Amino acid sequence: MKQAIKFNWDDEIELVDANYNDYKVVWEIRNSKEVRDKFPNKKPIPLNEHKLFFKKKYKQYKIILYNKIKAGYIRDNGLIEIGIEKKYRSKGIGAKVIKTLKGKTIIMLNNQKSLGCFLKAGFEIRGFYLEK
Ligand SMILES: CC(C)(COP(=O)(O)OP(=O)(O)OC[C@H]1O[C@@H](n2cnc3c(N)ncnc32)[C@H](O)[C@@H]1OP(=O)(O)O)[C@@H](O)C(=O)NCCC(=O)NCCS
Repeated sequence: MKQAIKFNWDDEIELVDANYNDYKVVWEIRNSKEVRDKFPNKKPIPLNEHKLFFKKKYKQYKIILYNKIKAGYIRDNGLIEIGIEKKYRSKGIGAKVIKTLKGKTIIMLNNQKSLGCFLKAGFEIRGFYLEK
C-alpha cells in the first residue's frame, strides 16, 4: 500500500511496502555502527544472515521514500523500529513519518534523538525497562 505524506511544496515523503530486494538498503542503515549502538544487540550483522532474515520478514517493513529516493525504513513487528540514512536525518522526516504511526516502541536511554522524535510525533512514555 502506498501512503504519501506531503510536507513541503517541493519535498515529498512516501511510505511504500518493502519487497525482498530492499534487504540491502535496510541492512546499510541498520548495520552502521552508529545505529547498532542504539540497539540492545550491538554486534555487526553479516549481510548473508540479514538477507535470509529479510526474506522471511520483509512484510513487516515499509520503505521511506524522500523525493522518490529510498531514505529509510520502518519495521513493525509489534514494536516499531525506524531507521533513516544519515544524510537524510534531522530534516524532520522521522517525526513526520512517526506521526502517521500507531503502536509501541522501545527506545534505549542513549537515544535521546529518537526519544525526542517519538515525543514530538505524539507518543507518550508509559514505563521503563530494566535489565541486569
Ligand atoms: C531517530 C531518527 C529516526 C530520527 O529521524 P530524523 O528524521 O533524523 O528526526 P527529525 O529531523 O524528524 O527530528 C525530530 C525531532 O527529534 C528531536 N531531536 C532531534 N535531535 C535531537 C537530539 N540530539 N536530542 C534530543 N532530541 C532531538 C527534536 O525534537 C526534533 O524536532 P525539531 O527538529 O523540531 O527540534 C533518525 O535519526 C535515525 O534513523 N536514527 C538512527 C536509527 C535509530 O536510532 N532509530 C530509532 C530506534 S527505533
